[in-house]
Amino acid sequence: MKFLWRIAMVCVFSAGMAWIVPAWATEQALQPGQLLVSGKVLEGRDVCMHCHDENDQKPTMTILKTRHGVKGDKRTPECQGCHGLSDSHIHNAGGGPVRPKPDMTYGPKSEHDATARSEKCLGCHEGGKRMHWAGSQHQGQDVACNSCHNIHAADDKVLDKTVQREVCFKCHKNEQAQVHRLSTHPLDAGKMSCSDCHNPHGSVGPKLLVKNTVNETCFTCHAEKRGPFLWEHPPVAEDCLNCHTPHGSNVTPLLKNRAPFLCRECHSGHGAPYDGSKLPTAAAGGVTLLLHGCANCHSQVHGSNHPSGSYFQR
Ligand code: HEC
Ligand code: HEC
Ligand code: HEC
Ligand code: HEC
Ligand code: HEC
Ligand code: HEC
Ligand code: HEC
Ligand code: HEC
Ligand code: HEC
Ligand code: HEC
Repeated sequence: MKFLWRIAMVCVFSAGMAWIVPAWATEQALQPGQLLVSGKVLEGRDVCMHCHDENDQKPTMTILKTRHGVKGDKRTPECQGCHGLSDSHIHNAGGGPVRPKPDMTYGPKSEHDATARSEKCLGCHEGGKRMHWAGSQHQGQDVACNSCHNIHAADDKVLDKTVQREVCFKCHKNEQAQVHRLSTHPLDAGKMSCSDCHNPHGSVGPKLLVKNTVNETCFTCHAEKRGPFLWEHPPVAEDCLNCHTPHGSNVTPLLKNRAPFLCRECHSGHGAPYDGSKLPTAAAGGVTLLLHGCANCHSQVHGSNHPSGSYFQR
């Protein structure tokens, strides 16, 4: 209410006082994006903050607490760096009851498409992590910078490791379900974030992974699985996802399937070199049970450096 009252006052005031304003400061002399108030020419953020202040319906001044609001930093955008000079908005061109919108708006009601909105941001943020934004899965599906980034909030959630996933889960419900399974990466605990493995801005790897391949991504934290091993297990070197799933599984640890089914996708079970008859019989509750826990005996499934570890038992 106070906000609208102020705007009304500004209108009455500027109209009524026009005759005492010195000639050099008339509306005509204004540069684009400037505003004349009581004979004083406002520019930069002062133009917008003349009407938008802490009484705004939705808080926008919190932007002053973010990196974009650092006053001494010449690289940061003033309001107009993102919203445009917006002459028709600030002067209420047409004088109608509803002010024309600023040149650029971003919210859910914005008439500007995702490309146009992201373009503004890329003017300052091209390159770096956004090197592969063009053609990325998000860019291609009309996800804009501000679909994830909350520009006016004092804390942009998506930059905070402990809550970042909430932003992603707005759109990625499958992964939301997966991180609640029995075995997971410590995502829900907030110890890890989606962006430890993914670069949401685009990547050369598959599925927006931070590295070029799945394995290279996993090795950033599980370096010991890289080898080289004296005895390599080919599916490990090929792709960790032959056996694992990244977000969550009900088979610990993050396995795609239970043994023996997991192993039997590729192995028929025991062939000639292994003499199953030496094991306790099925009738005694032995063989089947033991054979199911393949990794009980083949404990070095990722590869072995033991001279006689060719069967990955040591
Ligand atoms: C003379 C007063 C005035 C000035 C100056 C002004 N605004 Fe506004 N602005 C308004 C009013 C009134 C509204 C509509 C009421 C509302 O929704 O809060 C509005 C709404 C907006 C909106 C929401 C538009 C929408 O519907 O999505 C944005 C964004 C905005 N202004 C940005 C700016 C920026 C950036 C500047 C500086 C370049 C600026 N305003 C300067 C009065 C002003
Ligand atoms: C870095 C770019 C950027 C800067 C700088 C910026 N804005 Fe915004 N503004 C946005 C985006 C993006 C939105 C859409 C809402 C969101 O994502 O937070 C927005 C939304 C708004 C809204 C509409 C709020 C609503 O949802 O009703 C207003 C009003 C506004 N900005 C005013 C300003 C003013 C005033 C300034 C300067 C003090 C400013 N903006 C600076 C990017 C920016
Ligand atoms: C006029 C240039 C400019 C524009 C336009 C701009 N930014 Fe920025 N942005 C900056 C600068 C400068 C920083 C501070 C960088 C630093 O401190 O190293 C920054 C910081 C950021 C950060 C990091 C904030 C943090 O707390 O670490 C994010 C995220 C960001 N911008 C997103 C955006 C988005 C999204 C848009 C478009 C809505 C946008 N920017 C528009 C210049 C700009
Ligand atoms: C799908 C969600 C998502 C989208 C869309 C997105 N970002 Fe980000 N952004 C993130 C996350 C998560 C981080 C923090 C992790 C990181 O730095 O990779 C981040 C970090 C940043 C940072 C700070 C770190 C740095 O690189 O300096 C900037 C700046 C930034 N984003 C700008 C942008 C711009 C510009 C766009 C649009 C072209 C954009 N973002 C689109 C999720 C997103
Ligand atoms: C506004 C909705 C939205 C948000 C928020 C969002 N995404 Fe997405 N994301 C999509 C869409 C749409 C696609 C492309 C279609 C698809 O494959 O599901 C996509 C694709 C992806 C892909 C690639 C899938 C593939 O098949 O190649 C990954 C990985 C991804 N997003 C991760 C993230 C992460 C991490 C975050 C949070 C930082 C996030 N997304 C936030 C909408 C979103
Ligand atoms: C430990 C690394 C890691 C983490 C952490 C991670 N992901 Fe993934 N994500 C992957 C890998 C690897 C794939 C590729 C899976 C595949 O190809 O089957 C993937 C695939 C995806 C896909 C595409 C799914 C599909 O069916 O194509 C989306 C969307 C996604 N992740 C979102 C997220 C979100 C959201 C988070 C945070 C909650 C997250 N990821 C955390 C590694 C990770
Ligand atoms: C950013 C670091 C990071 C990356 C990248 C990463 N992990 Fe992990 N991983 C962890 C952490 C942390 C744990 C939990 C360790 C613990 O609880 O002791 C873990 C645990 C695991 C576990 C055991 C889960 C359990 O229930 O005990 C498996 C399996 C695993 N990761 C596989 C992978 C695979 C496959 C990839 C690649 C797609 C990958 N990780 C990428 C950090 C990472
Ligand atoms: C052939 C199937 C298979 C492949 C491929 C595979 N793993 Fe595993 N992984 C397993 C099994 C089975 C376990 C459980 C081992 C156990 O219980 O002793 C396991 C356990 C783990 C663990 C948790 C226990 C530990 O040893 O730290 C991590 C982490 C892990 N794997 C990471 C990876 C990474 C990274 C890759 C890719 C380089 C990978 N795995 C490829 C089958 C596989
Ligand atoms: C994606 C396919 C795949 C999966 C799943 C798989 N393996 Fe393998 N495994 C192979 C290949 C290929 C070889 C190499 C065979 C060769 O050299 O003749 C191999 C070799 C082995 C060997 C050494 C045998 C030999 O003849 O040198 C053992 C033991 C073994 N795997 C156990 C397992 C166990 C236990 C599991 C389940 C945790 C498993 N494998 C899952 C593909 C797989
Ligand atoms: C009780 C321990 C034990 C269990 C349980 C076990 N293995 Fe073995 N496996 C061995 C030993 C020991 C060898 C080596 C045979 C030899 O030296 O005669 C072997 C050899 C193998 C070989 C290589 C020889 C061949 O037959 O091709 C494969 C593959 C294999 N096991 C897969 C599996 C799978 C899959 C499972 C689960 C269904 C499994 N093993 C369960 C102990 C076991």
